[in-house]
Amino acid sequence: MASEGILRGEGLGMAFKLPTGGELRVLQDLDVCVSPGEVVAITGRSGAGKSTLLHILGGLQAPSEGRVLLQDEDLYSVAQARRARIRSRSFGFVFQAHHLLPGFGALENVLLASRIAGQGRTESEERARELLDRFGLSGRHDHRPTELSGGECQRVALARALINRPSMVFADEPTGNLDLQNAEQVLDSLTAVVRESGGSVLIVTHDPRVTGVADRVIPLG
Ligand SMILES: Nc1ncnc2c1ncn2[C@@H]1O[C@H](COP(=O)(O)OP(=O)(O)O)[C@@H](O)[C@H]1O
Ligand SMILES: [Mg+2]
Repeated sequence: MASEGILRGEGLGMAFKLPTGGELRVLQDLDVCVSPGEVVAITGRSGAGKSTLLHILGGLQAPSEGRVLLQDEDLYSVAQARRARIRSRSFGFVFQAHHLLPGFGALENVLLASRIAGQGRTESEERARELLDRFGLSGRHDHRPTELSGGECQRVALARALINRPSMVFADEPTGNLDLQNAEQVLDSLTAVVRESGGSVLIVTHDPRVTGVADRVIPLG
C-alpha cells in the first residue's frame, strides 16, 4: 500500500450489533487510499455501506476492524480531543442535507466552522466572503437558509466545508437534492477549490454526474 497517501484506510470492517443479538456486516477487509490532490468517488447501491465508510474515514465513527491513517497518524488511537481537532482543522464535510443553522445568515454559518477550529475572525471572514462570492452568492451573505434556494444553501455548506482549507473534504451524496445545473455547479466549485489548495476529496454517491469529475472511482459491494 502506498505510504505517500494522505489518507489510508487499512483492512476496514464494520459489523453493527443488532438489537436482536446478531450483527449486520457492512464492510469487510477494505483498503482505501487517497493521494494528495486526488478526487476519489466511492459508488455503490443504497445500503452498500458508503456513508458508513465515509464516517469511518472522516474520523466520525470507529471501525470494528482495521485502522485509518491521516499522513501517519492513526485516527482512532489518538485521544478523542485530538481526533476532534483533526476533524475541525484538517477535514471538511458536506452532506446531502446542508445542515445550515436556520437562525444565522450565510456568512455566519460559514464562519462558525472557522470559530470551532480556533481560526482568527479577520482572515476567516475575508476567505468566507471570497468563497461565497466565487460560488455565486455575492449580495447574499446575510441571507438566512429560508431566504436561499436549495442549491444556494448547498453552496453555502460547501463554503463552510472549505473555510479552513482542509486537506481532506468528505462529501456524502452532496448533489442528491439538486437539479442538474446546481449539481454541476456544486461539483465544479468543490473540485476547483480543493485542487487549487492541493487538498483531496472523497465523494460517496450513486450519481453518475459525480463519477465523471472524479480521478478515480472505487465501487463498493
Ligand atoms: N448505526 C447503525 N446501526 C445499525 N445498522 C446500521 C447503522 N448505520 C448503518 N447501518 C446499516 O448499514 C448498512 C449500510 O448503511 P450506509 O452506510 O448508510 O449505506 P449507504 O450509504 O451505502 O446507503 C445499511 O443496511 C444500514 O441500515
Ligand atoms: Mg448513504
